[in-house]
Amino acid sequence: MYLFKKVNDLHQYLNKIRKKGGNIGFVPTMGALHEGHLSLIRQSVKANDCTVCSIFVNPTQFNDTADLEKYPRTVAKDMAMLTSAENDVLFLPDVHEVYPPELDTSLEFDFGELATVMEGFFRPGHFDGMAQVVKRLLDIVQPHSLYMGQKDFQQLAIVRRMLVQLKMPVNLIMCAIIREDDGLAMSSRNVRLDPALREKALLLSQTLQKAKAKMASKTPAEIQKWALKQLSIPSFKPEYFEIADAVTLQPIKKFSDSDYVVACTAVWVGEIRLIDNLIFKEE
Ligand code: PAJ
Repeated sequence: MYLFKKVNDLHQYLNKIRKKGGNIGFVPTMGALHEGHLSLIRQSVKANDCTVCSIFVNPTQFNDTADLEKYPRTVAKDMAMLTSAENDVLFLPDVHEVYPPELDTSLEFDFGELATVMEGFFRPGHFDGMAQVVKRLLDIVQPHSLYMGQKDFQQLAIVRRMLVQLKMPVNLIMCAIIREDDGLAMSSRNVRLDPALREKALLLSQTLQKAKAKMASKTPAEIQKWALKQLSIPSFKPEYFEIADAVTLQPIKKFSDSDYVVACTAVWVGEIRLIDNLIFKEE
């Protein structure tokens, strides 16, 4: 695996691949890698001539400085995992490389209703920072395909809209959620859960599954009420449990209102904020 820390060095290497007609797949991450990230890498490795993974803990998308400081950083382990997954290139820039003083930051995004609900409501500014760094990384890597996880459903919807708005010719591929054996969605934040809370955390995926099973007999509002009650156990603080149209991300009143329905939830489990989602209905 090649390691590049500088944009220019990465450019030189990728230009050679492009000149030879090679396809480039890109997997942006913030490190502390787990099997979820590796599944994205593996999909890209299978489909492209060169896979680039970036590890950059992007300060502009953290609306909570404690969360940024405590974000796990495990670069040596990450590199070993990437090598085992046959990743070709790791881009590991520092903050000055991603945000040099001369960078034009005048571009403002408007994701409309996609960014005002759920994560957008509870983490103000988060998606602007996320979109800013994804745009910057795409400008640097210029991949043919971009691999992102369903785990961050709303993030993916926003990146999809950004690609359309900016007319960026990138093929966006949504990769399924990888879960622990008990169903907990893999997340870099899971390592910060103490053993008792880690055990209880499977309640998120269980509640999503049980909620889906109620679709035939209950309305979205009834299921939402039930789910929020399930998730309100000691040490848990649910922020939202929304049943929404999976394209617009707006809550639905009846299941017949949409052909593509997703349920998304965010819950504070002790000091750790976890998110998860489940597709309820697909065309
Ligand atoms: P990060 O949380 O490191 O996630 C990197 C990618 O891995 C995202 O596309 C995310 O959806 C995916 N991912 C995380 N957990 C997963 C799981 N359990 N199963 C499948 N995929 C999973 O998301 C970010 O970083 C950042 O916002 C980023 C896009 C890199 C911009 O800074």
